[in-house]
Amino acid sequence: MDTANTAIDWDREHILHPLYRVGENNGVVIDEGRGAVLRDRNGKEYLDFRAQLACVNLGYGRREIVDAIAEQMNKLPYTTIFHGFSNSTVIECAQRLAGMTPAGLAHFVFTSGGSETIESAFKIARSYWHFKGKAKYKIISLYDSYHGMTLGALAATGMGNGNAWSGAGPLPGGFIHIPSYDCYHCAFGKAFPGCDIQCARFLGATIAKEGPDSVAAFIAEPLLGVSGMIPPPPEYWPLVRKICSEHKVLLIADEVMTGFGRTGKPFAVEHWGITPDILAMAKGITSAYLPFGAAAFNDEIFNGLKGNVMLGLTYSGHPACAAAALKTMEIYVKEGVAENAARVGRHMLDRLNGEFNGLPCVDNVGGIGLMLGMNIVRSKTARTPFPPAVTAEVEKRAMENGLLVRCMNAATTPGSRVALTPPLTITLAEADRALDILKPILAGLKAA
Ligand SMILES: Cc1ncc(COP(=O)(O)O)c(C=O)c1O
Repeated sequence: MDTANTAIDWDREHILHPLYRVGENNGVVIDEGRGAVLRDRNGKEYLDFRAQLACVNLGYGRREIVDAIAEQMNKLPYTTIFHGFSNSTVIECAQRLAGMTPAGLAHFVFTSGGSETIESAFKIARSYWHFKGKAKYKIISLYDSYHGMTLGALAATGMGNGNAWSGAGPLPGGFIHIPSYDCYHCAFGKAFPGCDIQCARFLGATIAKEGPDSVAAFIAEPLLGVSGMIPPPPEYWPLVRKICSEHKVLLIADEVMTGFGRTGKPFAVEHWGITPDILAMAKGITSAYLPFGAAAFNDEIFNGLKGNVMLGLTYSGHPACAAAALKTMEIYVKEGVAENAARVGRHMLDRLNGEFNGLPCVDNVGGIGLMLGMNIVRSKTARTPFPPAVTAEVEKRAMENGLLVRCMNAATTPGSRVALTPPLTITLAEADRALDILKPILAGLKAA
C-alpha cells in the first residue's frame, strides 16, 4: 500500500484547510525545516519566502526556543491567570514586552493568536468607553483589511467579504468600512501626492457622519498584509493619529503581521513616529513556535478599566507560550533581527524596482522591510489583474523550482499580487536565490 498517497487522500476528506476549497489539498506535506528551508515528505526542499503566514520570523530549528519551551513544560506546563492568579514566566514575558513595545503601551491582555487579540482589542475599546459612561461602540476599519476569522474580527475585516467566508453571517453589528490607503486602486480616483491623503481625511468625515459619540475605535494594519503587503503613503498614519485624537476615537494598530521586526523596526508604527492606543500582536511574538498573542494598551485605558472585571481565555498567559515569547524576544534583540530585515529588505526592494518592475506584467512594486509585494497585471495601463488560475500557476511553478511564495488572488483582493515575506533571518544570498527563481516565472507572464 502507498502510505504517502493514502495519507494525503485521507487528509483531503477529513482535514479542512483554511482558505482552500473544502475537500481539497495541494498535495504538499511538509515534515521538516531548518533555517529558511522546508523539506516535504519526499525530500524536496523549498526556500520559504512566505515564512508560512508571515509568522516564522526566526526560521526553523531554533533550538533555544524549543529548549525554553521544554524547560517550562517540565517545570509547570500550565496554570491559569484567571481569578487573580499569575505565574513568573508571564510576568517576565510582559516585562520584556513592555521594553519592546512603543513607549506608553505597557499593559497587556494575553491570547492564543491574532483573531483573539483583535476580539480582545475591540472589547477593551468598547469597555473603556462603557465604564466612562459613553455609548461609543462602533468600530471603523478598512476595505482591503484582514483582521482574522472569528466573528468580530471578520466583521472588521474588509477584504473578500462575500467570497472566502460567505455564509458566516450575520456578522456582529457596529462595524463600518471605509476605503483603504491602497494608492494603486485609489477609491477616490486620485493619485499620490496630489490626493491630499483623501483616504485618511475620509476617516474624519466618517466619524463626523456617524457621530463621534458613537464611535469607539478605528482599526487598521500599518501595512495591508493579506491584501498583498501594501504600504500607506507616508502622511497616512500621522494624519489618522491626529484625526482619532481630535474626535476622541481610540486608535488600534493591528500589528499581528507587521510586529516583531517584519518591517525592519520592532513595530511598524515606529516608521511614522506614532503611538496607537491599543496595539495588537501575535505571529512573530513566538516566531510561531507556539500559538500566542497580546494586546498592549496605554495608561489611560488601563486606568479606565481599573477595578472592573474583564473577560479572558483559558489559555491567556499560558506559561509555555510565554516562555517561547521570552526567548524569541531575547533573540530578536541579541541577533539584531529587525536590522537584518531592513538590510535584506532594502536589497530586495532595489532589485525588485530595478529588474522586476520593468517586466511587462509586473507593476507597483513596494513594501517595507521583509514585507514586500508586487502586482502582476495583464495590462499596466488598465491595471487589469490576472485571474486566480494564473496566480495559482505562479505559486505552483515557484514551488516546482524550490521556492514558496504567496499570491493574493484577484477574487479576494483588488488585484493579483505576489508577496514575499521570508523569515527575518535570511541572508542576502538566499534573497538573491529566491529572486533569481521568481524572475523568469514572472517574465513568462503574457500581457494582454
Ligand atoms: C493583520 C492580521 N490580523 C489578524 C490576523 C489573524 O490572526 P490569526 O490567524 O492568528 O487569528 C492576521 C492573520 O494573518 C493578520 O495578518
